[in-house]
Amino acid sequence: MLKEKVLKAINSQIEKELFSSQLYLAMASWAEANGMPGTSNFLYNHAEEERIHMLKFVHYVNDRGSHATVPSCNKPENNYESVKSLFVQIMEHEEMITESINNLVAVCMEERDFTTQNFLQWYVTEQIEEESLFRSVLDKLNLLGNEKSGMYLFDADVEKLITPPSVI
Ligand code: FEO
Repeated sequence: MLKEKVLKAINSQIEKELFSSQLYLAMASWAEANGMPGTSNFLYNHAEEERIHMLKFVHYVNDRGSHATVPSCNKPENNYESVKSLFVQIMEHEEMITESINNLVAVCMEERDFTTQNFLQWYVTEQIEEESLFRSVLDKLNLLGNEKSGMYLFDADVEKLITPPSVI
């Protein structure tokens, strides 16, 4: 069984991963409706990736003899000013998630739960990759500028960054 503080912190992280998935789903739908098929595919894929992050926590908690509770989550923003503002928001969101994972590691250290701390290393590494991925997307956007031709190239290019969702 997980200690109460660790369980509470993981259940809160489950909610954040669920929100990430819903947020990227809303962004994917916006991009699809606004004629950006590559961007929307990239975001639909990333919404799946976040769902896997959530499920990985759910299975871990239950495997440890505790109970992972499935939360409701806040409604994500469904409208965006531009593709750039959307990706700036993702970058800020991922930085918040990194901070949250780090706090979770700190709770495990305080509670001397070294097994969960070890389990969390996957997320620590994943967050380095996620931040690096979205930083590279923002770099592309900055290089291509806001003209229509730049957006067309960006949309084709960002789709190439799709990777198969990680395995639970
Ligand atoms: Fe689950 Fe994008 O971090």
